Amino acid sequence: MYKSIIRPFLFNFDPEDIHHVTFSAIKLLYKLPFTKSIARSKFVIENPRLVREVFGLKFKNPVGLAAGFDKNAVLFDELSNYGFGFVEIGTVTPKPQPGNEKKRLFRLKKDEGIINRMGFNNEGVDAVVERLKHRKTDVIIGGNIGKNKVTANENAIDDYLICYEKLFDYVDYFVVNVSSPNTPNLRALQDKKPLTELLHTLQEANNKKRTSKPILLKIAPDLSDDQLLDIIDIVKATGIAGVIATNTTISRDNLLSEAKKEQGGLSGKPLTKRATEVIRFLAERSNKAFPIIGVGGIHSPEDAIEKINAGADLIQLYTGFIYEGPGLVKKINEALL
Ligand SMILES: Cc1cc2nc3c(=O)[nH]c(=O)nc-3n(C[C@H](O)[C@H](O)[C@H](O)COP(=O)(O)O)c2cc1C
Repeated sequence: MYKSIIRPFLFNFDPEDIHHVTFSAIKLLYKLPFTKSIARSKFVIENPRLVREVFGLKFKNPVGLAAGFDKNAVLFDELSNYGFGFVEIGTVTPKPQPGNEKKRLFRLKKDEGIINRMGFNNEGVDAVVERLKHRKTDVIIGGNIGKNKVTANENAIDDYLICYEKLFDYVDYFVVNVSSPNTPNLRALQDKKPLTELLHTLQEANNKKRTSKPILLKIAPDLSDDQLLDIIDIVKATGIAGVIATNTTISRDNLLSEAKKEQGGLSGKPLTKRATEVIRFLAERSNKAFPIIGVGGIHSPEDAIEKINAGADLIQLYTGFIYEGPGLVKKINEALL
């Protein structure tokens, strides 16, 4: 029903507008007494064989919702009823910021992709913390953190530390996002020296806590093999918990849709192959030294299994969730069983 009725209806509207309308509609629906149990009975499968223990956390299943969908932690409780084993909120920055000018989100229907140049639009870490304080779900919640646009790269560590400290009591793991193509110069933080410094500082703060929380690094699919080898060294040297591969790409190979001319990060099917290559490279060249969350163009159970066979311990979706609907999460879990 999603692909034949709901998606054609939703795709009539501007993608960013319909994202917000859908959020409001879901919020409203959840005021009705049976919505939660109906959603859970349709979308959630619980089975001990789906449970995964990764970086010290117990996931009900390995399929997560990727960052960027619930940037402000508005809907994570409701989203946890669509079968996800974990939901990542953010990217969150210390101060609220509006992001780039609209229009900044584009569907590439012929390619089953999306281009976005949102630019970390978010309400800031304090607003997000207030919402997380009322968390009801027992599904794992990740906090994806970034820096404000006005913060120079030299001072970026302060922004990541502020978000880390403020979110510490309210999320289960952290993701250091240095791979969005939509904040000018952000990806320069993936270079060996600044990245080592950033992750070392965060991990040091983490080690001082009574119980530390896993810190992961999210990387771009556009890194060269040499840069990926550097990433492996940095993860090992700083002792962070793992890597999320990958964020959106700036590449525009083999696209059919008009919107390919838009600037920003490309996600969805055109990213599937490259994201899998990055996962395989990291897993093989590190000898599986750390856990990997695989993300990028998962639109079917086969895509999910390919990511896992390449070396992913857990997987995440964003664009596949938009194109295939919430049933995709259950289909993947059923295929895994
Ligand atoms: C509209 C949109 C916004 C996104 N925002 C973020 C973000 O704020 N932080 C982040 O780490 N990734 C963000 N992403 C990237 C996704 O989390 C994911 O890494 C990427 O889209 C590849 O997965 P997919 O092909 O399943 O969408 C965003 C993606 C989209 C489509």
